[in-house]
Amino acid sequence: MLLSGDSPDGATSAARRDCTALASGYEMGEVQMCHTVFPWHSNHCGELSAGQLLTWIDTTACLAAERHAGMACVTASVDDIQIEETARVGQQICIKAKVNRAFNTSMEVGIKVAVEDSLTNSQKHVCTAFSTYVAKPAGTKKVNLKPVRLQTPQDHLEYSLAAERRRVRLYHEDAYDNLMEDGSLLYDAVLESDHNKVSTDSTCVESIELVLPPHANHQGNTFGGQIMAWMETVANISASRLCHTHAILKSVDMFKFRGPSTVGDRLVFRAIVNNTFQKSVEVGVRVEAYNCEEWTKGKPRHINSAFLIYQALDAKNQYITFPRVKACTEDSIRRFRGAIARRKIRVARKYILSSVPEKPISHPWDKGNQAYLSYNNIAALTFLAARNGWELNSKMYNVKVFTHEENDTLSIRVDMQVKIQASQAYLLLSDLGLRPHWDVHYLSCEVVETAGVDDKIFYITCPPIKQKRSTDFVVLMSRRYPCKNGDPYVIAVRSVTLASCPPSVKFLRGEVQCAGFLIYSTGRDECQVSYLNQLTSGIMPYIEENLTGWSNSIEETASSCIKFLETAKIYTTLL
Ligand code: COA
Ligand code: ADP
Repeated sequence: MLLSGDSPDGATSAARRDCTALASGYEMGEVQMCHTVFPWHSNHCGELSAGQLLTWIDTTACLAAERHAGMACVTASVDDIQIEETARVGQQICIKAKVNRAFNTSMEVGIKVAVEDSLTNSQKHVCTAFSTYVAKPAGTKKVNLKPVRLQTPQDHLEYSLAAERRRVRLYHEDAYDNLMEDGSLLYDAVLESDHNKVSTDSTCVESIELVLPPHANHQGNTFGGQIMAWMETVANISASRLCHTHAILKSVDMFKFRGPSTVGDRLVFRAIVNNTFQKSVEVGVRVEAYNCEEWTKGKPRHINSAFLIYQALDAKNQYITFPRVKACTEDSIRRFRGAIARRKIRVARKYILSSVPEKPISHPWDKGNQAYLSYNNIAALTFLAARNGWELNSKMYNVKVFTHEENDTLSIRVDMQVKIQASQAYLLLSDLGLRPHWDVHYLSCEVVETAGVDDKIFYITCPPIKQKRSTDFVVLMSRRYPCKNGDPYVIAVRSVTLASCPPSVKFLRGEVQCAGFLIYSTGRDECQVSYLNQLTSGIMPYIEENLTGWSNSIEETASSCIKFLETAKIYTTLL
């Protein structure tokens, strides 16, 4: 695939000379590209333009996808991107793209972008991105892509997480719709009727581009990166009109390509500021395509709608405070509310997925963040299990107890060999309501909220150990079937907060950071159940004596679990 989007004045070939697609020496589906930032890639401040960056990201990722698929691919979507560093003229941008997983016709590509400065010999992270490409063979036939060859533990991890990210991606619009239906996002006309607020009318920008062969692949499909770059250009103008200074792109809410565009299309871009939040502004862009006939009949095709977040610096290099904007029409009120909903999702996602050590363990379970909490639940357990350095602590017949220490965190893993089909163990263990039958540390366990069959919230009570009061927990249980043979069944548990289950004086409220089961099939009628728990102060009293050798409660609970599963197997077979 050729590069597109370079300057039209002959700079393209110079840029191409400076761009290296290092294909050889890499795995299939892996591509690296390095570019020197030249003046024609930058804005008037000498900074790499965000549109150019998006084009390069898409080009590299598309090459990786095509390398894996062995045929042309088109961009289906690009997940949210956070831009952390600005590159300047003279520096180098290095992009690594790798296919994490092939589904049926689509693939997830993971992308890492860094900026290098040869003069200072430094390297900084610019952004991480995940995009999805769909293989497009000539004709109308659909392909079934070959699986990705997994070689390193990191490959396996990314492969598992790709399935989780796909769930989040496909849930993206539902999260937004749920929040928009939520009464708390109603527009309060009285509250918002501040005369100092500015109208967004002046931020309305419209632009048109004719798709020419250099903007498209050899099959004539417009490059997604080119469209994103054009979108960024109009959004940037819109944001700059509000802040009267140069706007800097900070993040993008998912780019989703709803339908194809081809050479000859006239692409119409419309952008306007939807809302402002203290130090940032959201600009929405809608892209529609017309071909020659549609142009005269006025029937456009909706190609993409995206929401871009900008910030701006003042003369002292401080982020400026944006003026509050007023919404006057029905459309602008809807968009004003839409921007608040998206911000809510963005903040929740950033908070849940970041690894700030001092952040609270429990997050509120609400309509805007359910997919992220569920993703985080599965991902945290997968990461915990994949850690190196598990030490064998004790071994007893068919139970082995391991511990893992990292900084101040202690985790345990209990491996149990059980004579039961993995799928049966999965169903029995994911029904946490059955746990009081085999775990003496559970007094009661009941479902308090359900979000589909694979995500449930349980309220658990546990007997007092050293404390005077009993402990209670509110946990989210997320479970997943294996994605392919050899993968484990996953049952992940973490604490959440739920308005309907507030802490009470009767119980000490405990928290679970990351716990659960991974179940591996080891034969027709046998499996290995690994129980993992990243210990918190709420859990510690229950296993402290075990770890210091004073009690065998972990092994006893594990034996009880094995007995329960093997007995339950007889009952389930008889039924
Ligand atoms: N994000 C990620 N993947 C998506 C997606 C999205 N928003 N929408 C669909 N997909 C995936 C599906 O999960 C499916 O994957 P699978 O085959 O591996 O299971 C695959 O795309 C095809 O989905 P399907 O439901 O059969 O087709 P569709 O009618 O939803 O079309 C596209 C999906 C992406 C092919 C279609 O919207 C399209 O052609 N978009 C434009 C692509 C393009 O030309 N981009 C370049 C710039 S315009
Ligand atoms: P929504 O209006 O629900 O946000 P759209 O896909 O219609 O969804 O538009 C996406 C964004 O594009 C809008 O939020 C707005 O910021 C911008 N936009 C849409 N139509 C116009 C227009 N006619 N003029 C300027 N900007 C527009």
